[in-house]
Amino acid sequence: MMRDKENIFPDYENILSRKEKENLLKQHGKVIWVMGLSGSGKSTIAAMIEKELHERGYLTQVLDGDNIRSGLNNNLGFSQEDREENIRRIAEVAKLFLNCGLIIIGCFISPTLKAREKARKIIGKDDFLEIYVNTPFLVCESRDVKGLYKMAREGKINNFTGIDSPFEPPVEPFMELDTSQCSIEDGVKQILEKILPLIEYKSEK
Ligand code: ADX
Repeated sequence: MMRDKENIFPDYENILSRKEKENLLKQHGKVIWVMGLSGSGKSTIAAMIEKELHERGYLTQVLDGDNIRSGLNNNLGFSQEDREENIRRIAEVAKLFLNCGLIIIGCFISPTLKAREKARKIIGKDDFLEIYVNTPFLVCESRDVKGLYKMAREGKINNFTGIDSPFEPPVEPFMELDTSQCSIEDGVKQILEKILPLIEYKSEK
């Protein structure tokens, strides 16, 4: 039975705040939202960012589309509606981690402006750092690491992003990088240069 929303009483006053957790961890939480086509290099970039941050003493958590879809979101497919619900739930999870003061590195295709706007709204615009991995479609397709582009071309899977499901690039991402033009290592270096000043612990305000 659906519980009536009017009978829910959210209370954030009596639990510890994000600031208190950030003071404990000596870092500032952020959500690094790595988005782009399947095969663009998102997961590799996310894993490298996490490793670099971990080595510098930051507490992080990677949220990856394929992992989340095999657990929390294993009841969702690839229709527009399911993709939006996928991103909505992930944004809520990211927000919980953010409230713990963590640096979240998410990697999802998140193909539509609408879904990403919802995520930005849930997480908060100042904490949502959108990184567009702008690897050209043809490069992603020719890499075809998971063999999914081939299956989509053969009609064995439907609603594949970039083939028979839309992909809307971001208008003003926090950063954009093309892994067919620069090495992943250089891309990660550029990302770190922009992210580190934002997560570096300032004071116990
Ligand atoms: S999103 O569109 O809802 O953001 P998400 O990032 O969670 O997608 O999942 C994408 C991953 O699911 C891809 O990397 C790929 O491995 C797998 N996948 C399976 N079917 C599809 C499909 N039809 N379109 C895109 N990705 C698919």
